[in-house]
Amino acid sequence: MSSVDRQQDPAEVKYGTNRLVDWHPKPFQAPDKNAVRSPCPMMNTLVNHGYIPRNGRAIDEATLIEALCQVGIAPATSKVIAFASIRLVGQLKAGESGDYVMDLSDASKHGPIEHDVSLSRDDYRPDHADRHIHLNPSLLRQLKSFADTNGYLGYGAVARARNLRQRQCQEEAREHALDVYARKFEFGLWSQFCAHAESTGLLEVMGRNGRVHVSTLEDFFGKESFPEDWSPPKDAISLPTLFLATGKNALLRYIPETGVKQVKEVQEQLTKDISGKSDATASKAEESEKGEQQY
Ligand code: HEM
Repeated sequence: MSSVDRQQDPAEVKYGTNRLVDWHPKPFQAPDKNAVRSPCPMMNTLVNHGYIPRNGRAIDEATLIEALCQVGIAPATSKVIAFASIRLVGQLKAGESGDYVMDLSDASKHGPIEHDVSLSRDDYRPDHADRHIHLNPSLLRQLKSFADTNGYLGYGAVARARNLRQRQCQEEAREHALDVYARKFEFGLWSQFCAHAESTGLLEVMGRNGRVHVSTLEDFFGKESFPEDWSPPKDAISLPTLFLATGKNALLRYIPETGVKQVKEVQEQLTKDISGKSDATASKAEESEKGEQQY
């Protein structure tokens, strides 16, 4: 393929070159009535494509590791994620093996992984059984509205979207403070770590090289399906990559607005300086011209 052809490959425009080109997903199948689902769009997608048992039940560590490796998470990283996830939300398998298993619905338990301030789900409330599990379409629309003019969200955009969600969730908790089932807003360090790691998954696994396209968000969040043009990253996500990107997601939340504002201000100032300088240079030139004329 010539470089011109390559530039025109729409998948490469969207995902870059860090993708497995010959990857073909197992077929998508929507969940039936008896299947259980989780608040995690990736776990649901893996189940909908049959990388995890389609009923979403009794998932063991080996199955989860294999499924995570399939979507471009390095084996060591997959082992850590699978081990931690199943022990955090799962239960001991019957018998004496000492193995743990989890149902997808176990991931909905509020606290161990499920947290407030999700990008696409409402916060958990004891009087609403599943508002924290299923997609809220208006939150997806809100998330997409952070895309740039080419339809991409980068680290800064996801950080700004998270900050907006935090304000919304805090406000909602305040508004319902006197309800019978009132809940205090919570977004402690562990929850923040989980949320920022999820943002990493969004930007580096579903998206690539720190940006994700709105069409990918529509398939991933909206249909819980791998987009047709999607394939896993060729460079599987290692633990250092995961931690660095997660740190970046966390840090950017504290500077995105000021960051953007500062960049704008600096740009405006630079423009002023440059035009000011050229004005000054022009008037100096005029003066010296005048001077030359005078003397
Ligand atoms: C490739 C690996 C994974 C990726 C890319 C991924 C991606 C995501 C994303 C983007 C969200 C955010 C949803 C939102 O904010 O609205 C999320 C949420 C979640 N994920 Fe995953 N995930 C992965 C693996 C897992 C695993 C192995 C578990 C184990 C149980 C898990 C459990 C959860 C839970 C409980 C949530 C809900 C958190 C919340 O918003 O309250 N994820 N995931």
